[in-house]
Amino acid sequence: MTSSGNSNLPPYFGIDPAEAAARLSEPIDTARFAKAAAFGAKGRDDLAKRGYSPDGRKRLRKFSTWEICRYLIPVAPAHLRRVLKANPDLPQGEGEGGTKWFTLEEILTLRSYLDAQGSSSKEYKSWRPEGLPAKVVAVANFKGGVGKTSTCAHLAMSAALDGYRVLVIDLDSQGSMTSIMGGQVEDEWQTCFPLLAKDFGRHMEAENARRAAAGTPPLPFDETIKEALTVSPRNLIQGTHWPNIDLIGAQLNLYWAEFQVPVWRMQSRSWPLWDALTHALDDGGLLDDYDIILLDTPPALGYLTINALAAADILIVPMGASFLEFDSTGRFFDMLYSTFASIEEGENRARRRDGLPEIKFEWDAVRTLITRFDAGQQADLANVIQAYFGDFMATYRQDMTAMVGQAAEQVNGIYEADHRQFNRDTYVRGREAFDRTWAEVKSVILGSWWRDMQLDEREAE
Ligand SMILES: Nc1ncnc2c1ncn2[C@@H]1O[C@H](COP(=O)(O)OP(=O)(O)OP(=O)(O)O)[C@@H](O)[C@H]1O
Ligand SMILES: [Mg+2]
Repeated sequence: MTSSGNSNLPPYFGIDPAEAAARLSEPIDTARFAKAAAFGAKGRDDLAKRGYSPDGRKRLRKFSTWEICRYLIPVAPAHLRRVLKANPDLPQGEGEGGTKWFTLEEILTLRSYLDAQGSSSKEYKSWRPEGLPAKVVAVANFKGGVGKTSTCAHLAMSAALDGYRVLVIDLDSQGSMTSIMGGQVEDEWQTCFPLLAKDFGRHMEAENARRAAAGTPPLPFDETIKEALTVSPRNLIQGTHWPNIDLIGAQLNLYWAEFQVPVWRMQSRSWPLWDALTHALDDGGLLDDYDIILLDTPPALGYLTINALAAADILIVPMGASFLEFDSTGRFFDMLYSTFASIEEGENRARRRDGLPEIKFEWDAVRTLITRFDAGQQADLANVIQAYFGDFMATYRQDMTAMVGQAAEQVNGIYEADHRQFNRDTYVRGREAFDRTWAEVKSVILGSWWRDMQLDEREAE
């Protein structure tokens, strides 16, 4: 058989097996993956550095007066100039001529000043009820590549631009969110892993207290659990190049949790393995330290995702408007139902037996969000999906924007990219995709806080 010169044939005709064999390398052994991984790691570092400053750390760019007045503070440029002139102690920005550039810290200072001095009819500061805990938002879908990390990262940045104190927790051992946030994670001890181990350790301590009372020998603690018991969530938090975004990062070793959690559960069947992250957020005071906690999850319904879902008040489920993503997302809801229903059933059986109150999982809201939307091609399918998922759907569809790709090449979010790199229309449209995503999620967050506040007030009466 020789390759045919007939160029009308499709490319999969006329393949010569002998020539094809000659192009193959020797069979691949396990070690070859190590080599590929080493090349990958080197390339990754090179690429990641493109978005980094020369000293290897990520820095947040400055924001122009145009951007501040257009997007960040509801104030006219002339008024802002007057306020700055009258108050030389306020940050004056950098740059020649009319346009000045400010850091986000400076913008937050200006916003606080305007809020304290300015007209009370203007929304200088985003609303948040006093005394209520942070809202925890999980972004999840077991389908991969649907835009979970992009959505989660942009929500974090939007919330930060709005002045909220944000904590991002990366639960995906791929560590994409950690890269976007410029996080440095050495091993699993700087990820959420010790929080899960600690929760199991706490459970064992309680169990051993019971055993001691009953005269049964204690369960042994291994080194991992002993070490984890000394870790506080605050030890795991790192700052980012955003002044008001902190991070608990992830890296490959976090995947180990998926093997370890079921082993622990086998050691003590009564350990509520889904509650470890909830306990860590509650006990560590993190719900008071932050306004919004965002959880980015891996494309799987494993133990880390289950912990994220159990800890979340609000669940965002990104999906593309394609048949396969719709199908897969429907199955994801089915898996959520069976997972959480079986947890409730098992727990409540034991609780009824012990005369304890029953548990029930509850979320403030769930929003399926169409991502990478192409109105020209996908409007019909999106309408069908909307009809089936009903109030589980966000009303806004996050448009496909080339800016995500371009910004991501630099390991940047859209909000981190300088608007001067883009044509103004492209910038405005690209940014709108994520501004509107935030508007929708923010509305769910504020609504949930408001509802909690009303409930608290009613209970206090
Ligand atoms: N609105 C958008 N417009 C254009 N491209 C997008 C948009 N949102 C996400 N993408 C691109 O889609 C790809 C997948 O996105 P992302 O990594 O956020 O998905 P994911 O669900 O987190 O993936 P994984 O399941 O691997 O964690 C990325 O290349 C990202 O740049
Ligand atoms: Mg992801």
